Amino acid sequence: MDFKQQYGPWAMISGASAGLGEEFAKQLAAKGLNLVLLARRTERLEALGKSLSEQYGIEYRAVSADLADPDFLPPVADQTEDLEIGLLINNAGFTNNGDFLDNDLEAEIRLVDVNCRAAVILAHHYGQGMRARKRGGIIFTASIAGFAGIPFWANYSASKSFDLKLAEALGAELKPHGIDVLALCPGSTYTEFATYDGLISNLLTMKAKPVVSGALKGLGRKRTWVAGFLNRANVFFTRLLPRKWNSVLFGFVVRDIVKH
Ligand SMILES: NC(=O)c1ccc[n+]([C@@H]2O[C@H](COP(=O)([O-])OP(=O)(O)OC[C@H]3O[C@@H](n4cnc5c(N)ncnc54)[C@H](OP(=O)(O)O)[C@@H]3O)[C@@H](O)[C@H]2O)c1
Repeated sequence: MDFKQQYGPWAMISGASAGLGEEFAKQLAAKGLNLVLLARRTERLEALGKSLSEQYGIEYRAVSADLADPDFLPPVADQTEDLEIGLLINNAGFTNNGDFLDNDLEAEIRLVDVNCRAAVILAHHYGQGMRARKRGGIIFTASIAGFAGIPFWANYSASKSFDLKLAEALGAELKPHGIDVLALCPGSTYTEFATYDGLISNLLTMKAKPVVSGALKGLGRKRTWVAGFLNRANVFFTRLLPRKWNSVLFGFVVRDIVKH
């Protein structure tokens, strides 16, 4: 089965209005999949869908949703109930930088809602159809930040650890139903997500294109994919070091990022 037969005819991408989600949209359209583009900035989704539809002859649906809204699912489900969604890219996410105790509590709760709760809800809802059809795929955009508890990104690193573990567990659980699941773990990547500045950041930061193409290549072959050689080396050493040291070292790097 080729990619479109295995994971088509429709793919849903959360967080498609920017960064990695937008890149997923471009690469999946190039593979001939129709797209449900999900995020809050609808005008961006419309513009992206229109241009991809003109370029590749695909269909698209721009669905506006705030994934932090406790009741976001019913309207999203209504707008997609007639579609066979064979691939879900659970990608929307954000971080709150800085000292946990100084951050706004509501913003920290929204982070958990978007990065974790919404990913669970979408996987549970769209996974039903995939199981019935005995084929499909789900990619969770986790992060290398999910391999350690990271000061100044405490809630964020915890949320990415959640995505990582959920994806790995579902990878094993859903395989017998013909559903491939991948935990995509990018390191720093040029998007709207964060400002990576300075020599080390520039050396480590990747473009969105290879991160996404690697994930799409890995789907069905791997359960966890860390983007980029330097990030894989980073994760390798993270696993070797005592967990406490990881937090100290990552805290040092992230303190520098959040200052910008
Ligand atoms: N860039 C990195 O360095 C990096 C590294 C590791 C992991 N990641 C992960 O990669 C994923 C994508 O991030 P990115 O780097 O592409 O960042 P980005 O350029 O900031 O894009 C984030 C996307 O998430 C959507 N989003 C955020 N809050 C939302 C909400 N409440 N409801 C609906 N959509 C929402 C945004 O859309 P709207 O604002 O239009 O709603 C946007 O499309 C995230 O899960 C992030 O944790 C990024």
